[in-house]
Amino acid sequence: MAKHDIQDFFKESQQQVERVLQEILASTGNVAPELNQAIHYSIFNGGKRFRPTLCYATALALKADTTKVDCVSAAIEIIHCYSLVHDDLPSMDNDSLRRGKPTCHIVYGESNAVLAGDALQAFAFQVMAELNPEIDSQRKLAMIIELAKASGNEGMAAGQALDLQATNQLCNLDELERIHRYKTGKIIQACIDLSALALGKENSDHHQALQSYSQALGLAFQVKDDILDVEGSTETLGKTQGADAAMNKNTYPSLLGLENAKLKAKELHERALSALTIFGEEADTLRALSHYVIHREK
Ligand code: IPE
Ligand code: IPE
Ligand code: MG
Ligand code: MG
Ligand code: MG
Repeated sequence: MAKHDIQDFFKESQQQVERVLQEILASTGNVAPELNQAIHYSIFNGGKRFRPTLCYATALALKADTTKVDCVSAAIEIIHCYSLVHDDLPSMDNDSLRRGKPTCHIVYGESNAVLAGDALQAFAFQVMAELNPEIDSQRKLAMIIELAKASGNEGMAAGQALDLQATNQLCNLDELERIHRYKTGKIIQACIDLSALALGKENSDHHQALQSYSQALGLAFQVKDDILDVEGSTETLGKTQGADAAMNKNTYPSLLGLENAKLKAKELHERALSALTIFGEEADTLRALSHYVIHREK
């Protein structure tokens, strides 16, 4: 897939998910205006929308209309936004810049940021349940369970706990890989698994291939995030460069060195591509997304 094609697809996906998010948020009440503002601020603050784009690319690979996975792409982006609000809190990574703007707790205060995260998490499940009503309720239930696992105590939240526990201590490479697979990989894998479920393709060989792809992609995404923390710029990243070193975090560059971390990212990209060999050109967008993950500048 040519470079401009993937850029166009990214843009269309961003617009599609933002339209969906605008519509569903417009239909919610305004009981606590400041909390509501904090929620809007945390969703519409210029995220790349990588996860929704991955959901839509999965629909293409499974030869389905992208709108059929709107509930997945919107719900996962909302979970992701909540995870960032909490990740930035003083008791976690203590960051003051996110997506080029002051973090939620800087603008709205810590208690509103905690509550915005809580509300976003609950809202994600509502969105998953309500959108795409053509999906039958048994299937929806299975999707809701998968999203809960990917986000909670068997997923992202567990990874965040392991990450914080390991801060200021040296961990080994296996431990770091485990942290990254949970805190970042699980949600990225959920994009594939939930999209396959939404489309009724969860038992196909193609889904198995996609799972191998997403395992490699999810880890690659966080390896690259670690690399960007070292060699990106605050302006381009929209978050404070060097925050990992300042917090004494375990990262791929800190454990392996920058060059070996880059080799690791490349190896994971190759693994992701080789998982897709059973697909034809319908998976070209997924291939391009894997390339994007390790070559991105933000
Ligand atoms: C940042 O995710 C947090 C990680 C899991 C590494 P993104 O790099 O996708 O951040 P946004 O959504 O574009 O801001
Ligand atoms: C965050 O990892 C993973 C999440 C679950 C949010 P990081 O702490 O490295 O993410 P950034 O660098 O702050 O975006
Ligand atoms: Mg963190
Ligand atoms: Mg962080
Ligand atoms: Mg990071």
